[in-house]
Amino acid sequence: MTAQHPLALGIHDLAIATGHHVLDLDDLAAANGVDPAKYHVGIGQDAFSVPAPDEDIVTMGATAAKEVLDRHGVEGIRTVLFATESGVDQSKAAGVYVHGLLGLPRNVRVVELKQACYGGTAAVQMALGIIARDPSERVLVIAADVARYDVETAAEPTQGAGAVAMLIAADPDLIELEPQSGLFTADVDDFWRPNDRSTALVDGRLSVTAYVDAFIGAWDDLADRGGPGIEAIDRFVHHQPFTKMAIKAHRKLAQHVDVPFEETELAVGFTYNRQTGNTYTASLWIALGALLDLDDDLAGARIGMFSYGSGSVGELMTGIVRPDHQQHRRTGRVHEMLAARVPLSVEAYRELHAAGAATSEDVERPRVTTAPFRFAGVSGGARHYEATGA
Ligand code: CAA
Repeated sequence: MTAQHPLALGIHDLAIATGHHVLDLDDLAAANGVDPAKYHVGIGQDAFSVPAPDEDIVTMGATAAKEVLDRHGVEGIRTVLFATESGVDQSKAAGVYVHGLLGLPRNVRVVELKQACYGGTAAVQMALGIIARDPSERVLVIAADVARYDVETAAEPTQGAGAVAMLIAADPDLIELEPQSGLFTADVDDFWRPNDRSTALVDGRLSVTAYVDAFIGAWDDLADRGGPGIEAIDRFVHHQPFTKMAIKAHRKLAQHVDVPFEETELAVGFTYNRQTGNTYTASLWIALGALLDLDDDLAGARIGMFSYGSGSVGELMTGIVRPDHQQHRRTGRVHEMLAARVPLSVEAYRELHAAGAATSEDVERPRVTTAPFRFAGVSGGARHYEATGA
């Protein structure tokens, strides 16, 4: 089935970046005196990325965006939308630093979007609106986050770091996004990061029920709007604070619409997230990236994409994979990037964690990252970023 919009609009390119370091959850389990199976099976995570001291959402977002711009140039880009819930400044949009690092033209608007992990999806929807009005434009969407909870809490193994950059355009190479989507908002206190904290506070159990409610609510709204039935959706990817969350929600949907469900149906989309950990706004799109990279039978398939941001907003979008998407595959690149991360001991990770908060004090960051951009530190009343030459 084809989409109803006369012009195909959607995701033209997608690139993923993550932090320099990795913490293996076997090591965290040993330090916390927990059976490692609780992490690998019970919550469905194997490791999480940890940014180096000279990395943050800006450097990861710029790294992902550079890959997209290296392939497509800047032509038609008049808007950069940066979605994050771990912003480095209460006022200035992180995307403005990226604009400078990438040398984007001056005639570009840049703004930051926030609604917990949902912000990336809001950015995609805004981008679609812009290109629907003028299909010669292309919008650079960046979603980047560092998921930080307090150490030795239940949420500690569900931290992570990563970024996605997407080029949203007419006649896209990868996925045509269909115009209908299902929406759900409910005022729930499952997760928050008050302004005086650098780590989030989460009621994990409540977040599970809030997520499941949002998924079913968004499904029902999509159905009410004449969206595709479950039999017409070939694959699903989900926002994954931990991959078991997607399984719990999907099991509930299967009951709701009375179809069978095997956990293995979602496994390909879990591949990268199990290694990066939670990447908040980027998480859903990293799952989509895994599916596009690793599923060999996607041409023409309809994918359901569920986005959830605590607090809470959910949206279920659908898209049709373009018939020749495989020509644009970059199989192996993300696996290489994940394998290249430098392992940390639990002690070293906890030291980095303690030093991780954004500050207005003058600070110089050590040179650690091997990514193309680094955060040099704060001085003279400003955050300073630079290219590394990598
Ligand atoms: N072998 C296999 N499984 C085991 C096990 C073992 N040895 N030991 C325990 N388990 C299983 C448990 O049975 C349980 O499975 P079910 O959930 O299927 O029952 C699972 O492991 C977890 O066990 P607990 O519930 O006892 O774990 P916990 O109390 O330590 O907490 C958690 C788990 C609630 C997920 C916690 O890690 C947490 O709070 N994480 C953060 C949650 C989160 O991110 N929520 C936000 C949602 S959305 C988002 O990303 C945020 C956004 O918008 C900002």
